[in-house]
Amino acid sequence: MLASQRQHFDIPREVAYLNAASWSPLPLATQEAARQAVGRKGQPWKLDASFANRQHERARAAAARLIGADAGDIALVSSVGYGVAIAGKVLAPAKGSRVLVLENDHTSPVLEWQSRAEAQGFTVETVPQPADADWTSAVLAAIERPGARPLSLCSISSVHWSDGGLVDIARVQAALRRQGAAFLVDATHGVGVVATDVKELDPDFLIFPTYKWVLGPYGRGFVYVAKRHQGGVPLEQTAFGRRDVKAENPVYFADTRYVPDARRYDMGERDHFISMEMASIGMEMMAAWGQGAVVARLASLTHRIGEGLAGLPISIPAESVRAPHILSLGFPEGMPEGLVERLAAEQIYAAPRLGRLRISPHVYNDEADCDRLVAALRRELR
Ligand SMILES: Cc1ncc(COP(=O)(O)O)c(C=O)c1O
Repeated sequence: MLASQRQHFDIPREVAYLNAASWSPLPLATQEAARQAVGRKGQPWKLDASFANRQHERARAAAARLIGADAGDIALVSSVGYGVAIAGKVLAPAKGSRVLVLENDHTSPVLEWQSRAEAQGFTVETVPQPADADWTSAVLAAIERPGARPLSLCSISSVHWSDGGLVDIARVQAALRRQGAAFLVDATHGVGVVATDVKELDPDFLIFPTYKWVLGPYGRGFVYVAKRHQGGVPLEQTAFGRRDVKAENPVYFADTRYVPDARRYDMGERDHFISMEMASIGMEMMAAWGQGAVVARLASLTHRIGEGLAGLPISIPAESVRAPHILSLGFPEGMPEGLVERLAAEQIYAAPRLGRLRISPHVYNDEADCDRLVAALRRELR
């Protein structure tokens, strides 16, 4: 099994950082590359003409590799919300149809549709948060609800950020196909850890940022766009989204047709030479460890914590319905006041999320981190 990779991070022994689902620490290699990249921007005359394109394509290829996509199916964006906004412009949920979202899902896959619903004449239907975190059953029931309006789109996270429930997106996609509905997957808490293969799944859009599970910086995200949607109008109108609009040419607007693949959707000012390379490094490290090895490691850590907490007055979603890398504790009598702060005072970091305590280890954690958390929670909840 993959051993702890703590040596690649700047994490003191006494820190148990169990909060990757909020934001992960940057690997040492990423920090060093970032320092050098800042220096490059300090002396831009040293950059050769092909440098920018190498950066874009390195990041695009690294993102594509994590989800089994072709590089040309990936657009470079700044956030999940930006990716959903592309989908908002490209997809047109039919008048009178419904768009499915999850209750308390992150704002990014939800608000785009809520803000468009009235003007475009569709409704947004919210799948209620199930008490047992079995989101797959809840979503399938909503898709197939008898007598419901026609379904045009399901826009959901593949892992719910608050309770750690895992949606079986393959089963959801099969049900959506039967209804002729589109599928937008916010794979923020999936890519890199949960097996993701867009060629097999065939979603319409699948989006992820880099600052959590793939160990990157803020402000860098990636959108997979199915080939059937690569003929749409991008959110921003850029020179590089067109076939031949180049400042170096004698004629500027030489060919304004869009480039033929998902690159047309790249965000404006995509030349983030500092953070783009940082994003690439984290994704390349994840690929080098391998999704299977990473998930086995993280599943063993969350399992160890779950076992250690047995018998305490808490509820934990069953392993069969929760994500392997996130443990979200419910407190039937409410989370003890000040719990998160007292844990932090012991340098144990987890996140309060909608009344639950979300524990999210990553490859830098080890068994000692888990055991410290378990000991602290047993003291607190005894
Ligand atoms: C499920 C989910 N989606 C998206 C995001 C981030 O969205 P954005 O990149 O639009 O800020 C988060 C951040 O917590 C999240 O948990």
